Amino acid sequence: MTELLRVEGLAKHYPIRRGVLRRHVGDVRAVDGLDFGMATGETLSLVGESGCGKSTTGRMIARLLAPSGGRIVFDGRDISGLSGKALSPLRREVQFMFQDPYASLSPRMTAHDIIAEPLRLQGTYRQNGAARVTELLDMVGLSRQHADRYAHEFSGGQRQRVGLARALAPGPRLLVLDEPVSALDVSIQAQIVNQLRQLQRELGLAYLFISHDLSIVRHVSHRIAVMYLGRIVEIGPRARIFSAPEHPYTRALLSATPVADPARRDERRRITLQGDVPSPSDPPSGCRFRTRCWKARDICANEEPKLVARQEDGHLSACHFPEGTLSSGEDITPGPSQGAGGTVEKKEARAWPEG
Ligand SMILES: Nc1ncnc2c1ncn2[C@@H]1O[C@H](COP(=O)(O)OP(=O)(O)OP(=O)(O)O)[C@@H](O)[C@H]1O
Ligand code: SF4
Ligand SMILES: [Mg+2]
Repeated sequence: MTELLRVEGLAKHYPIRRGVLRRHVGDVRAVDGLDFGMATGETLSLVGESGCGKSTTGRMIARLLAPSGGRIVFDGRDISGLSGKALSPLRREVQFMFQDPYASLSPRMTAHDIIAEPLRLQGTYRQNGAARVTELLDMVGLSRQHADRYAHEFSGGQRQRVGLARALAPGPRLLVLDEPVSALDVSIQAQIVNQLRQLQRELGLAYLFISHDLSIVRHVSHRIAVMYLGRIVEIGPRARIFSAPEHPYTRALLSATPVADPARRDERRRITLQGDVPSPSDPPSGCRFRTRCWKARDICANEEPKLVARQEDGHLSACHFPEGTLSSGEDITPGPSQGAGGTVEKKEARAWPEG
């Protein structure tokens, strides 16, 4: 597959200013050095707890936000430093879809106006705009009768379809989808997710799919990147992440997702992480996860683990003691007896419906 996007050392630091003189006293390191690539037509999911930097990453890639460090290379071109008019061609290629696209739009606009707006901005509406809007409505599973309706006349799922049609209007190659279905009922989530997968097959779109719901992520992803406190701690093919996670944080996240096969439910116990996520303005030394990790040793405080591959299958993780490298008692059973770690309980299952 052709590489569409490459991100190197991507960072976003927000300065913290105090006092009358607004002195610079530190930085919120929202995103703190990411490296990954994306292929044409692929779905890479970004997962992790609230505040780990998923949206900030997505907004930088769509260039709604300027990075404070690193490089974003889209289709061979460095887009990190572009601004103003120089960003216009990129706006066509990379689109960002919000959790609630309508929240930022006027309630006085019809679906037609909303979908047509990017075409008007692009200057292509005059040519065949009305026909293109009808085509886009059809692509997202709506009919031309929906074109004249206003936001309040649509259900949540339909609103999301209108948002999707708007994002597709300029003919992008990459969509950044930030929690696109998390506000919807589970049955509607499945419909939208299946629509996204169909569009991906038809149009060869790449998706950067941001979510903290691993049931959905399992359904949509080709690869998954797990973020913790502004960094990627594990990245790899979906099957490897779900069947053989290497990082303790990934294990903890996965333990909270349902297991479809009832025979396997007892295999996976829920790990409830203790303690809060540390502040991104003062991350722990060494491994950032060490204050919540049941496997932490001295080296974890002194040396930051690098994101490394243990096999040549594109699966990388950043841990001094990845899964299976400690003796079984230390490795498998997190619990209060092991200090800062987590507690274990049987997990409750919630199945993700096939649509
Ligand atoms: N404009 C800003 N100024 C200062 N800090 C910010 C700003 N925007 C985001 N942050 C901080 O950056 C960190 C990452 O935020 P971000 O919204 O990217 O997280 P997220 O992973 O998308 O979380 P969620 O799952 O809740 O959407 C958070 O600690 C957040 O408080
Ligand atoms: S074992 Fe050490 S390096 Fe690995 S996640 Fe835990 S604290 Fe981090
Ligand atoms: Mg977010």
